[in-house]
Amino acid sequence: MIARVWGVCLAGLLAAGALGCGGGQSPPADDDGPVVVGFSQVGTESAWQVANTESIREAAAAAGVRLEVRDGMQKQEQQIADIRAFLGSGVDVIVLSPVVESGWDAVLQDAKDAGTPVILVDRTVDTTDTSLYVTALGSDFVAEGRTAGEWLVEQYREADGPVRIVEIEGTTGAASTNGRLKGFAEAVAVDPDLQVIASRDGGFTREQGARVMAGFLKKYDDIDVVFAHNDEEGLGAVDAIEAVRKRPGTDIKIITVDATRAGLTALAQGKLNYVVECNPLLGPQLMELVEQVAAGQTPPRRVLTTETAFDQESARAALPGRKY
Ligand code: AHR
Repeated sequence: MIARVWGVCLAGLLAAGALGCGGGQSPPADDDGPVVVGFSQVGTESAWQVANTESIREAAAAAGVRLEVRDGMQKQEQQIADIRAFLGSGVDVIVLSPVVESGWDAVLQDAKDAGTPVILVDRTVDTTDTSLYVTALGSDFVAEGRTAGEWLVEQYREADGPVRIVEIEGTTGAASTNGRLKGFAEAVAVDPDLQVIASRDGGFTREQGARVMAGFLKKYDDIDVVFAHNDEEGLGAVDAIEAVRKRPGTDIKIITVDATRAGLTALAQGKLNYVVECNPLLGPQLMELVEQVAAGQTPPRRVLTTETAFDQESARAALPGRKY
């Protein structure tokens, strides 16, 4: 079980400058009980998010941590209200997966003033005061976009003439969207034939991905490639392409991010062409960070997960053991 060593914890974090304490915060009344963690999750819009929550629940149970999960329903106001509720109920640690990057300073300052450490998981925040959170665990989203773009550059290395790409973005303002946009743009910039002709928010969902793709297909009759920011959106693009009697994966190539079982299945069937992994199984690493914070240690500021990418052949090999 993860134990609390609060005096040491606060002293350690203060010494490292990782956590400023507004003064006046006292150690939890019941020092012997389990560590209580309040987790503000983005939502349930994708299989990825469901797997992420499940991984964190399982790891918390295994570590003897009492976990309270609140679903932000993809709304920043909801997540801010949830964080305030956690502060009101006196949780020991707050874990936040922020729907968008900006606009968190005030509520994170409240957490800091209350002496409640905040750990970011999956997505990150954009703040000039990095003392507002202790550590951030998750993916390198820029690298994910770059991996997708580099694969495309390689595919069209010998080709002549323009390659017309449409991009179905994740939620506007999310760290995962911003990173993937940036990495992909940087990678394809090396070949002027690779042209992003349109880019729109697909909300990380299959329905919205399908709607956005249907709109693109109405407007452009010569789309070569779709870069969708997650599997859901990519599968929505498959639906929209099939609805106009074109062949996804053949007439129009599709790259996605996540590598869920549904994504890898479509890849193995030839409906997608390349899938960059974004690992949602962050629970065990997160609990290590909770343990470090509770034990008064200073965790690294940024902890990245290890990820890979799949083509159609490696998807077939990976599918039998895929957990999510
Ligand atoms: O922030 C991670 C992203 O959010 C995943 O790629 C996506 O599926 C989820 O909704």
